[in-house]
Amino acid sequence: MSENRIKQLKIAVLPGDGIGPEIIEQGLNVTKAICKKFNYELTYEYAIVGACAIDAVGEPYPKATHDLCMNSDAVLFGAIGDPKYDNDPSAKVRPEQGLLKMRKDLGLYANIRPVTTFQSLIHKSPLRAELVDGADFMCIRELTGGMYFGRPQGRSEDGNTAYDTCVYTREEVERILHLAYKYAGQRNKKVTIVDKANVLATSRLWRQIGQEIATQYPEIETEFMFVDNAAMRIIQWPKSFDVLVTENLFGDILTDEASVITGSLGMLPSASIGIHTSVFEPIHGSYPQAAGKNIANPLATILSAALMFEYAFGMMNEGALIREAVAASMEAGIVTEDISNDGKAYKTTEVGEWVVHYINNK
Ligand code: IPM
Ligand code: MN
Repeated sequence: MSENRIKQLKIAVLPGDGIGPEIIEQGLNVTKAICKKFNYELTYEYAIVGACAIDAVGEPYPKATHDLCMNSDAVLFGAIGDPKYDNDPSAKVRPEQGLLKMRKDLGLYANIRPVTTFQSLIHKSPLRAELVDGADFMCIRELTGGMYFGRPQGRSEDGNTAYDTCVYTREEVERILHLAYKYAGQRNKKVTIVDKANVLATSRLWRQIGQEIATQYPEIETEFMFVDNAAMRIIQWPKSFDVLVTENLFGDILTDEASVITGSLGMLPSASIGIHTSVFEPIHGSYPQAAGKNIANPLATILSAALMFEYAFGMMNEGALIREAVAASMEAGIVTEDISNDGKAYKTTEVGEWVVHYINNK
């Protein structure tokens, strides 16, 4: 039975900007600990992405980085972004372009963000405990289509008119909806398809295809919901969702909303999967104010490593052990300042080392 397991894992490590390098170091240490425990041979190589890549070579997703990702089994990704670009709308090259290029070139058409609550953080949620306690759903955001990539995009000659284009093809919609049904089949058997079909042509295509595909999955309940209503329902009744699937821009917005109801942005991992190598990253971003201070919460990155074992390698026990270690660190109060309850806060490295120690001794 163990013969079919991948024994050699090759990982591309892309720390990126801000706190990226610090949290990635902890995610990688946990990955190493798991490989040691379960006897996998791990090889890994670093590459640059984001603002640091612009500084080094003038582009945010260099070809050498792409080649490394293509030749790896999974990508562990930190964060990108630097304040020096945020307030400069005229900057020609931006770190975010690197992220979009990576998504497109790796064919990462699905971004998966599991939203789960942690008992010890429920009191930090902006929602009342009874609304959020037990909420557990998965957001699936289409990641390589829609307004982010539709062309034409630009300005009129006089500069006073601007336009973006939202485009979806049947193929793009079908593949993401099938993925949503696949995951719903492994979960609580409900898919909520979020669109704006009362206004947008692309949304009407989504809804039509959704109605067709729903008939192929009779064991799964399908619900259609307008995006404005979904935004409301996420805070009113988060427990009503199981798998929520939507287009790129709606997904960008709704997943930020969904992520905060759990009490801490610092806890949520994500997986981007599709045609080529999958990418695993925390959703909290580069948090430049904390860079270099050894205070950033490494748990979302460590949980992203758990998703990597599960989604990229099908190694469920390995992922489960990481989750167990993270839960134990929270129970023991070995956490960074953003989620500390009693005022006692640990450093990024201390939390990472504690999790590694837990895994080693298991
Ligand atoms: C995200 C981010 C990106 C997006 C930005 C940084 C381009 O907000 O991953 O959700 O909008 O997709
Ligand atoms: Mn976003």
